[in-house]
Amino acid sequence: IPHDEDIPKGDTVRCLTMLGHFGFECLPHQLVNRSIQQGFSFNILCVGETGIGKSTLIDTLFNTNLKDKKSSHFYSNVGLKIQTYELQESNVQLKLTVVKTVGYGDQINKEASYQPVVDYVDAQFEAYLQEELKIKRSFIDYHDSRIHVCLYFISPTGHSLKSLDLLTMKNIDSKVNIVPLIAKADTISKNDLQKFKCKIMSELVSNGIQIYQFPTHDETTAQVNSSMNGQLPFAVVGSMDEVKVGKRMVRGRQYPWGVLQVENENHCDFVKLRDMLLCINMEDLKEQTHIQHYERYRCCRLKKMGFIDVGPDNKPLSFQEIYEAKRQKFYDHCQREEEELKQKFMQRVKEKETTFKESEKELQEKFEHLKRVQQEETMKLEEERRQLEEEIIDFYKMKAVSETLQTQVCTNIKKE
Ligand code: GTP
Repeated sequence: IPHDEDIPKGDTVRCLTMLGHFGFECLPHQLVNRSIQQGFSFNILCVGETGIGKSTLIDTLFNTNLKDKKSSHFYSNVGLKIQTYELQESNVQLKLTVVKTVGYGDQINKEASYQPVVDYVDAQFEAYLQEELKIKRSFIDYHDSRIHVCLYFISPTGHSLKSLDLLTMKNIDSKVNIVPLIAKADTISKNDLQKFKCKIMSELVSNGIQIYQFPTHDETTAQVNSSMNGQLPFAVVGSMDEVKVGKRMVRGRQYPWGVLQVENENHCDFVKLRDMLLCINMEDLKEQTHIQHYERYRCCRLKKMGFIDVGPDNKPLSFQEIYEAKRQKFYDHCQREEEELKQKFMQRVKEKETTFKESEKELQEKFEHLKRVQQEETMKLEEERRQLEEEIIDFYKMKAVSETLQTQVCTNIKKE
């Protein structure tokens, strides 16, 4: 029986000291077992110019050979290549989805370069939101494709960020956890690298770009995470080549002057990236995606759909009330539209009626006019006919007279 310590905490919660074994101390083990059974998933978005080393780095991270063929530099649009893999390390299964840009930075139009990335990230949020809004949800077998981390590959120019880098990062920093990387860091000297890192960070700050910060609220990881936050962007080198160093075979890149060992922390930040991403902060990346980025997307979308938490009087509104209010608003809107349509219809009928009447009047006048003209024509013709008939009569008369005269002349000649 719990012993009441009689220490009131707040109004209703009291602190009790347990005087026996209950078993809920095993709760964390239950969670671990369930998670292992379900397996884990992790979605990485790699954004970077063509041939910057995205595939090689992913291969190096997961010690796999996921790369297929090289991309062309001549795509007219940026595309995204999505590949999902099932990986296993001891008894832990990981469903890894890698989304890579194809043709990024190869177009003149910068907006066309980052927009497909923004659209893809949003589309994954939308798919999750639609699943959430279903009456019958099935999150158990739902493949959550929301992007947990964006590895942004910066060209090792040693100079500064490109305007496309700033534009893209600015457009996605509120949607995804960005971890900036200096790609192919073996092509830049140690001194230049340090200056380049500082330059990149100051450019990100002055442009108000938020990159992912390794969390420092958990005391077990606070120290390493805060030290790693100070080393961003990570300068990475990728390679799947096995190179001989002394008696050991290591993964690295062989040069005429020596070997760059990928997993040597003095040579590059690859191990730091792998530890931060996979060993220490994968869960935080997933959590931030859900509670920060997805939450923001969901909030905007629901607001756009017309949902609000409190009414104008600052009182909380239930889903039912909002739904009813929206339904009423929609109904009123339909009624108004119907009324407007009716009015418009009546107006048009009236206008048509007036036009018809005017046309009828015009036709009537035309008909009357034509009738008059025709009557006048008929009268004129009648007159002409009458005159003609008179002329015919006169002609016959004259003809008869002339015939009589001719007969008399003939008779007189015979007598003579
Ligand atoms: P696309 O998918 O075709 O856009 O290329 P990608 O960004 O995936 O680049 P990929 O990994 O295919 O690497 C392109 C070339 O760069 C290959 O020849 C790699 O060997 C080389 N490469 C990759 N990583 C590094 C690196 O860290 N340093 C150097 N020097 N070369 C690298």
